[in-house]
Amino acid sequence: MATFPVIDLEKLNGEERTATMDQINDACENWGFFELLNHGIPHDFLDTVERLTKEYYKKCMEHRFKELVASKALEGLQAEVTDMDWESTFFLRHLPESNMAEIPDLADEYREVMKEFALKLEKLAEELLDLLCENLWLEKGYLKEAFHGTRGPTFGTKVSNYPPCPTPDKIKGLRAHTDAGGIILLFQDAQVSGLQLLKDGKWVDVPPLRHSIVINLGDQLEVITNGKYKSVEHRVIAQTNGARMSIASFYNPGGDAVIHPAPALVEKEAEEKKQLYPKFVFEDYMKLYAGLKFQAKEPRFEAMKARETTLPSQQLKESIREIKERKSVIQWHWCVFDFIIVNTTTKGIIMKSIII
Ligand SMILES: [Fe+2]
Repeated sequence: MATFPVIDLEKLNGEERTATMDQINDACENWGFFELLNHGIPHDFLDTVERLTKEYYKKCMEHRFKELVASKALEGLQAEVTDMDWESTFFLRHLPESNMAEIPDLADEYREVMKEFALKLEKLAEELLDLLCENLWLEKGYLKEAFHGTRGPTFGTKVSNYPPCPTPDKIKGLRAHTDAGGIILLFQDAQVSGLQLLKDGKWVDVPPLRHSIVINLGDQLEVITNGKYKSVEHRVIAQTNGARMSIASFYNPGGDAVIHPAPALVEKEAEEKKQLYPKFVFEDYMKLYAGLKFQAKEPRFEAMKARETTLPSQQLKESIREIKERKSVIQWHWCVFDFIIVNTTTKGIIMKSIII
């Protein structure tokens, strides 16, 4: 099997530019994932992000995780747990407006560093979208524009820790799913692995490389490219030793952006056979995704396609209900969406799902 694509972005500036662009294109077509070296974000800055994230987890999240997730997950555990994940997480929204001020116990230094990190990642995301445009023969800025809507893209960071797990065969760090949005930039732990993607029916490790940024493509890029590029299923395996840090930033379309296959990428044959991906408003897709994250993406595309032609007001709810019934799975799960904030109020737990 081919090895996981690791791409040295600096080579875009030299005589290996064409080969590097081909490498990126191959990764987008055949992996949905790649890992970037020399991406322009200074290593000492990444070290600071890592240190402050781990400190924040120890100080503000670890106790809460043990009390609220670990004890619940391990309670009378016999069969595999399929309705929750072994992860501790909080979400920072950057665009269209920041929610940093609402996150409890965030030290000023950590807040400032994460703001700067978001700016660097936003820039990198937009550079990458233009590299994808170049490979797809779309005009520069096409994808950024496609994501824009009336208020620009949505951009947020899910900060996760996967603590050591005594029973990794019984519960996933994060269950298998594809990402709903646009392009995802992940700064992951260099010591503790666990992220896997599904390639040709087999789970493949995404190798932890110090100071790299892992990129993966979300469902929206699959739609815009009419399937030329694919969002790929991935999961996190909990580890018995070591806590894994994972900081995933999601550069997504604006809520009211209308997503559809790029006309230039719709091959005539596909059009004639009506093999077109759907056209929809991004926030409608997200409403559907919120209930179906851990199921296959194809029924989501089908539901949006059906909605495209009928569009009655109840249709979205109906689509969710039908898919759930068809799968005979009605899951209540802790993580209804990518982005969760856990609040402890009095003795209770509030799980807020946030849709961006
Ligand atoms: Fe994901």
